[in-house]
Amino acid sequence: MPDAAPLLQLERVQRRFPVGGGRVLHAVDDLSLSLAPGESLGLVGESGCGKSTLVRLIARLLDTSGGRIVFDGQDLAAEPARRFAKAPQRHEIQMVFQDPTDSLNPRFTAREAIREPLTLLTKTGRAAADARVDEVAEQVGLPAALLSRFPHQLSGGQKARVGIARALAVKPRLLILDEPTAALDVSVQAVVLQLLERLRDELGLSLLFVSHDLNVVRLLTDRVAVMYLGKLIEIGPSEQVFRSPKHPYTQSLISAIPGQGPRIRLSGEVSSPIDPPPQVCRFHGRCPRGEDRCAREAPPLRPLGQQLVACHFADAATA
Ligand SMILES: Nc1ncnc2c1ncn2[C@@H]1O[C@H](COP(=O)(O)OP(=O)(O)OP(=O)(O)O)[C@@H](O)[C@H]1O
Ligand code: SF4
Ligand SMILES: [Mg+2]
Repeated sequence: MPDAAPLLQLERVQRRFPVGGGRVLHAVDDLSLSLAPGESLGLVGESGCGKSTLVRLIARLLDTSGGRIVFDGQDLAAEPARRFAKAPQRHEIQMVFQDPTDSLNPRFTAREAIREPLTLLTKTGRAAADARVDEVAEQVGLPAALLSRFPHQLSGGQKARVGIARALAVKPRLLILDEPTAALDVSVQAVVLQLLERLRDELGLSLLFVSHDLNVVRLLTDRVAVMYLGKLIEIGPSEQVFRSPKHPYTQSLISAIPGQGPRIRLSGEVSSPIDPPPQVCRFHGRCPRGEDRCAREAPPLRPLGQQLVACHFADAATA
């Protein structure tokens, strides 16, 4: 897969939010990565590191402050988010949101919810759209009898299936899932994850998968990208990153998975994402390995084996 032309290429993507008093929050900072057709990429990192902001930029729900988002050879970031809503590529990138209850209109039946993007984004006629709803409902294991129900008449797992069916109905090439199971009961999570695994294999879509559950990321993704305070700090094949994380932050994250050896606990405060000093490593102050150099020089991403790692002192033999 790495040899295929990328479906998605992020080039130095930035999103900054003014937070008053001339101060600026750097939610996503200078972030570059690519995603091949059919590849699944996990996006991990602690709360507030910028995962949702990044996927919202890619889905063009939010405007960038800088950089390029090249999808199938075309820079989507050149177009304001509000105009992209009407662009022909709109249906090619679809997103499944965290909470199916919040993201489904309570006044739409399951059929109407799944049909809506088809009629809005692809101008499919009513009969063809209904046929597609039946097809995609079957694909996600949603019984036809439930299609006439409203969200409040469906269980959490059934609503999650409606959300996934709605995203798949328009045959996207990139499916983005932002914590798709976080709002579900544990037993339902497992079933929905099996469904995602099957769909990934059957449909050959590219997947961008945000999750706090590292075991799930390991199971579902080919590669994993780790963010810390808006920055990409490590990326590589999932098996490789989970077996041999190189960045001290990734090492601590992975050490928290039960059965992964001694837990590396971090001390110190998380730095502020507001006006971060550009020449300081964002992990400095919390990093067990930090040295003076880390406060003078921000580490660039550099290749270490099959991984890219942003740390001055990581080396290929670490961990
Ligand atoms: N509209 C906004 N205005 C100001 N700051 C924002 C806005 N949206 C996000 N942020 C900030 O950007 C940073 C990244 O937030 P984001 O929601 O992308 O994190 P996340 O990694 O998805 O976190 P979580 O794991 O909790 O979902 C946070 O500091 C957040 O407070
Ligand atoms: S550059 Fe320094 S502070 Fe940053 S992760 Fe590496 S050792 Fe830690
Ligand atoms: Mg989020």
